[in-house]
This record gives sequence, C-alpha cells and structure tokens, in this order.
Amino acid sequence: MPAPAQIDWYDTPLYYDIIFDADTVEETDFLETIFDRHGNGNGKNRSVLELACGSGRLIREFGTRGWRGAGFDANPRMLAFARDLLEKKKITALLWEDRMESFTVPRGKKFDLVHCLVSTFKYLLTEDDARASLERVSAALKPGGIFVLGLHLTDYRESKVSHERWVVTRDGIEVVCNTRTWPVDRGTRTEAMRSRLRITLPDGTVQGQETRWTVRSYSAAQLRRLLGKVTSLQLVACHDFRHDPDEHRKLDDSYADLVLVLKKS
Ligand SMILES: C[S@@+](CC[C@H](N)C(=O)[O-])C[C@H]1O[C@@H](n2cnc3c(N)ncnc32)[C@H](O)[C@@H]1O
Repeated sequence: MPAPAQIDWYDTPLYYDIIFDADTVEETDFLETIFDRHGNGNGKNRSVLELACGSGRLIREFGTRGWRGAGFDANPRMLAFARDLLEKKKITALLWEDRMESFTVPRGKKFDLVHCLVSTFKYLLTEDDARASLERVSAALKPGGIFVLGLHLTDYRESKVSHERWVVTRDGIEVVCNTRTWPVDRGTRTEAMRSRLRITLPDGTVQGQETRWTVRSYSAAQLRRLLGKVTSLQLVACHDFRHDPDEHRKLDDSYADLVLVLKKS
C-alpha cells in the first residue's frame, strides 16, 4: 500500500462513525442510567447536549430513545454527515457549528444532561480554554443538571509510545485504526497522537490515511485543580471507560480512563 494520505480523520466522518459507533449503545445506556441516578429528569421531555458531537452517533441513539438532542462541532463535514443521517432516521435535533471553548447555545436553551466522552475535551490545549468550556457547560445546564466528562489521564512516568488498534466492518467497508500516543511533553502539557486508518471498500480497493493530533495532558491533580475553578459543577461520581454504572472509581491516578459525573448546583 502507498504511504497514507495526510487527511484529518474528522474530514472523513463515515470512517469515524464506523469505528466509534460500535460503542454507541453501551455509552448511551450508561449516560441514561447515570442521569436516572443523579439527574432531575421526570422521564419525559429530557434534553441532552453533546459537546463536539462529531458524526452525531450519540445524538441519533438518544433521539431513538425519545430525548431531545442537541450538539455542535467545529468540523462542518462532521455536522453535514450527522444532519444527513438524522434526517434519514427522521430524528429532529438542534445542530450547529461551534467550538467547545466558546460555544453559545441558540436561544439560550438549557439542558438536563450535557456530555463529552472519549477524551474529546483534551483537544482544548490551554487551561483558559478548558475552564471557559466548563463555565459554558455550567451555563447550558438546568439547575441540578448533569455533565458527564470522559477522558484519559496521562501517566507522567510513561516513556514508551502506547498503541491501540480497532477493526470494524460496516456495509462491506472495513476500517482498521491504529492509534499511537507519544509520551507527554511535561513543559507544554501536550501529548502527540497519530491515527492511521486502513480502509477496504466493498470493491476491494484499499486506501490509507493518517492524522496527527496534539492533546492536553491531565493528571488527577491537574483535573481536580481545573474542576475546582468552576464551583457550580460538583463531582458526584466517577466511573471508567467500561461504562458500568455500578463500577466506581476515585479521581486519582490509579486508573487512566475516567468518566466524571458533575452536577450543576
Ligand atoms: C473523538 S471525536 C468525538 C465525536 C463525538 N463526541 C463522539 O463521541 O463520537 C472529536 C470531535 O471533536 C471535534 N473538535 C475538536 N476540537 C474541537 C473544538 N475545540 N470545538 C468543537 N469541536 C472540536 C472534532 O471535529 C471531532 O468531531
């Protein structure tokens, strides 16, 4: 295969959706259970906002479960893909182009549940942007509303490159994703990542693409410090990427993949 083309993975939403959609039902089950346990919903007219909603996979799933969904993303191609699939499934949702660090919800709408999973929050590269985003989340929540934030903590002692691999096939398209994360740069608190996709189309054509990203690193203490700056959001529970609502974690460095449940006072 020739060298992979340098393409932003998020500019090819179908290949994103194929890989990540595998976990959608499990993640939505988890979010619903967490909301039932900690939120203020009465079972009807529940509303959910997703930061950086990407291909809209979670908005689609929430829509089929009767939630009123909303989401925004910085990438217009992701949004176009999300709109198209929602329309095909006859699901109504509020979608708009915006950024996590500066978003404004149309008509000042407030939500019962806001979420941001799979480490997406780490695309905010500065403390100011991360704090601004949390403040906007708080402003977008109804009193007693819930924010669920899922992100990988960084092992600052790690000196090796870590590797994850996914293979998913949908509608005859196979996507193999190899993601590498380099050890953290402590000075800038950044981690370099590279995802390589190998896509096999139904006619057997194979293509490759590669994306490089930079994300912000967090230890448990750094995350606690950030959360402490937005006092209207209080930590009420902590889980992990297995998305088991009965499996509890502490916000410390003993476990890398954390899902925090924050409640708006
Ligand atoms: C890992 S995907 C997550 C998509 C979706 N939330 C999901 O769980 O499938 C990350 C998304 O974040 C978007 N993104 C990255 N930085 C952003 C920012 N500062 N504001 C808004 N969206 C951003 C990308 O365009 C991409 O769609």
